[in-house]
Amino acid sequence: MNIRGSRPPEAESKPVQVVAPVISNVEIAPSIFRMSLSAPGIARSALPGQFVHVVCHDAGNHVSEGSRNSGLSLDPLLRRPFSICRVDRSGATIDLVYQVVGRGTEMLSRVAPGEAGRAGAVDILGPLGRGFDIPRSLAGEDAAGRALLVAGGLGVAPLIFLAYALAERQVRADVAVGARSRDLLWGIDEFELLGFGVELATEDGSAGARGLVTELVERRLCESLGGHGAPTVRYAAIFACGPAPMLAAVARLAGERGVPCQVSLEERMACGVGACLGCVVKTKAGYRRVCADGPVFNAADIFFDSDGLDFDPGASDAGVLHEAGMPDEARLSDR
Ligand SMILES: Cc1cc2nc3c(=O)[nH]c(=O)nc-3n(C[C@H](O)[C@H](O)[C@H](O)COP(=O)(O)OP(=O)(O)OC[C@H]3O[C@@H](n4cnc5c(N)ncnc54)[C@H](O)[C@@H]3O)c2cc1C
Ligand code: FES
Repeated sequence: MNIRGSRPPEAESKPVQVVAPVISNVEIAPSIFRMSLSAPGIARSALPGQFVHVVCHDAGNHVSEGSRNSGLSLDPLLRRPFSICRVDRSGATIDLVYQVVGRGTEMLSRVAPGEAGRAGAVDILGPLGRGFDIPRSLAGEDAAGRALLVAGGLGVAPLIFLAYALAERQVRADVAVGARSRDLLWGIDEFELLGFGVELATEDGSAGARGLVTELVERRLCESLGGHGAPTVRYAAIFACGPAPMLAAVARLAGERGVPCQVSLEERMACGVGACLGCVVKTKAGYRRVCADGPVFNAADIFFDSDGLDFDPGASDAGVLHEAGMPDEARLSDR
């Protein structure tokens, strides 16, 4: 069985911890911010689907030279994970797009641009996790078919980075984006500039089709099998990121049509580096850590239930530890 998280890590980059100067931090939609950071090491090595783990503080986390920790507030204690949305390898910057949902993101939204070692710089650790696999069969003249990118809400973020990588490899792709309403849509112009067709769905019908993005996916997959007349396109891979119920529906549709599908999961995280088991999910090969074995997994390997991820909260710590390949003395961290 090919479980992404059970394969040995390939040439994935070594994470670095840096205090990255904030170049800009702009509200691009209600409560949605795009933050651009100068982080040359991460910009050079990050792969689509990877994330950074960010210390969230009011004024950035100003760390004075020679007293690295003394300037750091410890509240909130835990870093927060954010997908890398775009890298500019020549400009050595990375972009994150985040929605203000709680204390950490609210603090992050108040960080103004600044210099390393002063207010206006953010402590980040990355790139972390295992990103999307781009199968060779998607590229070139004799490609097996197109890619379908499916995003719900903030799930657009890692798919923008992926879209740049697909465009570089001349992979043909279509994009389906869903949001509650028109004002919460963002990033569409970037997909279009890369030459990808974008179809929209909003729950209130204010842009694109009224309804859920999964309805667009169902129609597209049906067309690709000739369900509505002659097949127009053939999809050879689906890449999806969004809320767990959306991923569950996309995984089901892809499974029914036999289209390989990769999903980027979002779980609450503590350490972010595979040490605490705070982020495990149930897969067909046992428990896997979203931060280190994912966040991208083959959809067919994940147990989804009607609400999204089937975490199985009844599982004992010892069982989880054992299945995730951790020594028995390891313990889930207190988050
Ligand atoms: C690999 C990964 C990539 C992510 N990428 C992005 C991204 O690109 N943009 C973005 O806006 N968000 C992203 N998230 C979610 C983001 O990490 C959380 O929204 C953030 O940690 C919330 O911090 P907070 O202190 O503001 O909220 P809190 O005060 O901690 O919580 C507020 C609310 O958000 C929910 N929440 C908190 N953490 C998570 C989480 N990890 N996943 C889902 N819900 C959560 C809580 O259940 C609660 O309802 C990602 C999460 C993961 C695991
Ligand atoms: S957050 Fe994944 S193991 Fe600690």
